[in-house]
Amino acid sequence: MGFRKDFMWGGATAANQCEGGIFEGGRGLANVDVCPAGKDRNAVITGHMKMLEMDGEHRYPAAEAVDMYHHFKEDIALFGEMGFKTYRMSIAWTRIFPNGDEEEPNEEGLRFYDEVFAECKKYGIEPLVTISHFDCPIYLIKKWGGWRSRRMIDCYLRLCEVLFTRYKDAVTYWLTFNEINMILHAPFMGAGIYFEEDEEEEKIKYQAAHHELVASALAVRMAHEINPENKVGCMFAAGSAYPYSCRPEDVWEALVVDQENYFFADVQARGYYPSYAKARLKKNGVFPEMEPGDEEILRKYPVDFISFSYYNSRCIAAPGGDQEEAEGNLFKSAKNPYLKFSQWGWPIDPLGLRITLNEVYDRYQKPMFIVENGLGAVDTVDEHGEISDDYRIDYLRDHIKAMRDAVEEDGVDLMGYTSWAPIDLISAGSGEMKKRYGFIYVDKQEDGTGTLERRRKKSFYWYKKVIESNGEEL
Ligand code: BG6
Repeated sequence: MGFRKDFMWGGATAANQCEGGIFEGGRGLANVDVCPAGKDRNAVITGHMKMLEMDGEHRYPAAEAVDMYHHFKEDIALFGEMGFKTYRMSIAWTRIFPNGDEEEPNEEGLRFYDEVFAECKKYGIEPLVTISHFDCPIYLIKKWGGWRSRRMIDCYLRLCEVLFTRYKDAVTYWLTFNEINMILHAPFMGAGIYFEEDEEEEKIKYQAAHHELVASALAVRMAHEINPENKVGCMFAAGSAYPYSCRPEDVWEALVVDQENYFFADVQARGYYPSYAKARLKKNGVFPEMEPGDEEILRKYPVDFISFSYYNSRCIAAPGGDQEEAEGNLFKSAKNPYLKFSQWGWPIDPLGLRITLNEVYDRYQKPMFIVENGLGAVDTVDEHGEISDDYRIDYLRDHIKAMRDAVEEDGVDLMGYTSWAPIDLISAGSGEMKKRYGFIYVDKQEDGTGTLERRRKKSFYWYKKVIESNGEEL
C-alpha cells in the first residue's frame, strides 16, 4: 500500500527565517524582525520585554537571514533537483501591506511572490502557503497591541483577499496561521502581544486567540468563495503529552496539557469551543468576549484539512515533582528517561509521531498534513567541502518510517510531509544560525559572516531518493 501516489513530499520554511531583505521592496517591519539574537530574545518572544524598534545594541538575525530574497531562484532550483512536489513557505505580510492597514497593497511585494510561484511552477512544485507565520506588522502592534485587538481581523482578511485573488491560479493550498497554539507560549512571536505590568496575561492571550480563530474561519469562507478549489488547513504545534507515570495525577495533568494544545484545532476543525475549554476558561475568568455571530462563523467554516508540526512528544508530571526537565519546541516538560535528545535537548521520539498521527486523525477524521519535522544540529564542512549529516538522515528516516506505519498499518489519511527546513535558516526559538535543519547548507555563520553560498549536504541526496521512491527507499 504505502503513501498515496500523489503524496506531497517537500520542505517548509517561513519568510522571517529565510528571506531577509527586510528593508527592500517597500517592505515594512514585522514582529520577528525586532526579535534579537541572544539572551533578550526569549523575553521578547514571550511578551515580557517590549521591543518594537531595532537598536544599535542587539543583532537582528531576520534582517538578512539566509537572503532568500535574492537567492530564491537558486534555492527553488535545488528543491526541484530533490524532486519536491510541494514547497511550504510563508508570505511576509509587510511586503504586501507595509503597515498592515493600507487600502492598497504594495505592488513590488506582490510581484516578488509572483516570481517565487513562477519558479515553483517551473519545477512542478505546488506551493503550500502559510498566510501568517509568526508575522504581525509592527505598525499594528504599536497602534492596537497586535491580536489583542479585534480590529486585526479586518486587516488580516484584507491580506487574505489580496492573496487569494492575486495568486488564484498559482496557489491552492493555504494555512491560516502557523502553530496557532504558540500564542500561549510565545505571544509576541505568535500574535504581536507584549504585556504591561499587572496585566491579566491569560485573558489577553485567549482573547487574541479568539480573534485569530474567527479570522481563520472567515479566511476559510473567503478562500472557498474566491476559488472553490482552494483547500485551507489549520496548523498547530503537535506532540502528544505522555503521563510521566501511571499515577492518576500524572495522567490527569497530561490530559489537561493535551486539551490546552488541541483547543485551537478543536475549534478550527470541529467548529465550536469544546466543552472542556468553555468550562475551564469560564472558571478561570478568561473566557473571551465574543460578538454575536462569532459562534456561527466558527461553526460554518471549519478547515478542509489538519496540518501540524511534530518535533517531539512531551512528558507531563503532576505539579510538585522533582523530575529533570527537557527542552522542546513548545515548552519545557519532564525528561522522558526512555528517549534520546538532540544537541538542543529536544527529545527524539519517532514512535511519538505515529502516536500523534493516530490521536489527531481519530479526533478530527480529516486529511492530515505534517508540515514540519526535522532535526536542528551543528553541521561541519569537512576538508573536501562535504557535509556528512548522517544524524539528520537517521532522524528523518525514523520519523518517515513511523509515519509510513501510521498510514499502512493504522489507516490514517496523510496528504503529505514537508520537513523543516530544506535549507539552513535562522532558528525561531533561539535566533541562532548554527542550529541547522537543511538538506542545503548555507555559508552563513553565527556572527553573521559568510558568503551565503549554498552547498548540498549528504541528506540532500538521501531525501531525493526518498521522494523518487515515494518513501519506499529510506
Ligand atoms: C516551529 C516553528 O515551532 O519550530 C518554526 O513553526 C521553527 O518557525 C521550528 O523554526 C523549529 O524551532 P527552532 O526554534 O529550532 O527554530
